[in-house]
Amino acid sequence: MGRVIVSRTIYVNGEFVNEQDAKISIFDRGFLFGDGIYEVSAVIEGRLVDNELHLARLERSLGELDIPMPVSLEEFKELQKELIRRNNLKNGVVYIQVTRGSAERDFLYAADMKPNLIMLTQVKQLQDTPSMRDGIAIDIQPDIRWLRRDIKTVMLLSQVLAKKAAKDRGFQDVWLVEDGHITEGGSSSAFIVTKDGVLVTRPNSNAILPGCTRKAVLKIAEELNLKVEERLFTVEEAYEAKEAFLTSASSFVTPVVRIVDKQIGDGKPGPITRRFQEIYLDLALTSAEPII
Ligand code: PDD
Repeated sequence: MGRVIVSRTIYVNGEFVNEQDAKISIFDRGFLFGDGIYEVSAVIEGRLVDNELHLARLERSLGELDIPMPVSLEEFKELQKELIRRNNLKNGVVYIQVTRGSAERDFLYAADMKPNLIMLTQVKQLQDTPSMRDGIAIDIQPDIRWLRRDIKTVMLLSQVLAKKAAKDRGFQDVWLVEDGHITEGGSSSAFIVTKDGVLVTRPNSNAILPGCTRKAVLKIAEELNLKVEERLFTVEEAYEAKEAFLTSASSFVTPVVRIVDKQIGDGKPGPITRRFQEIYLDLALTSAEPII
């Protein structure tokens, strides 16, 4: 019956193919061991946002895991652009995944393995979503991840479970807690604004992913002459915050208006959060690199 099959073009190891034909070996070490890394860059109105930061982090993640770069940074960028063009992606994300490669299942890997590289696009609304407009309620779940969270690995089971637990409890997303302190979101960086108007976020370390959007937001804060403290903050401090928000490539700046059962501020997105939303979006729409 006239079902329209919308097929994306996917990039797999040197070829652009229809998604039905995009195949990878079952011996891929990403599949067998979670032995691989990924990156997500936003595309808004045909522009690639903060992409240099994402590609730099991709190179770092690979280096930390001793996986060779499958193509150069310049080639990564060209492939992203080509994929965006082929899929006519106006608004959404480009996903890149690099795994160590395919080999007989063995914990040890050979030094000369050839990485597997895939790239795909996903259509996604990145402006004026209900979450961005009204803010979201988030849960707190224990951070049960490993100790190298600075590497953007595809080993995401802890986040999958934390997000599912939060959803089952009626929340839209989750922040993770370790030793009483918030580390970050399930797939985002966590920020609060204190009663004194100080922007607080955890400093980069092995305990969190160094967020690209986080970096951009901190730069905006500096330009706004806002007082910033990169330090640990407790769950109680988050409950008491005047404002709270999270950042990521796929959610930009999203207000948090309730944490578990504590309303944040007056339960509406606060003025500082709004300011970041506006400036970040404006920068993306004006200075990010146009592709299509
Ligand atoms: N996640 N922290 C974690 C654990 C993340 O997974 C992400 C991004 C971030 C924010 O990083 P950035 O601003 O560079 O996107 C922080 C992506 C979007 C994902 O997993 O889909």
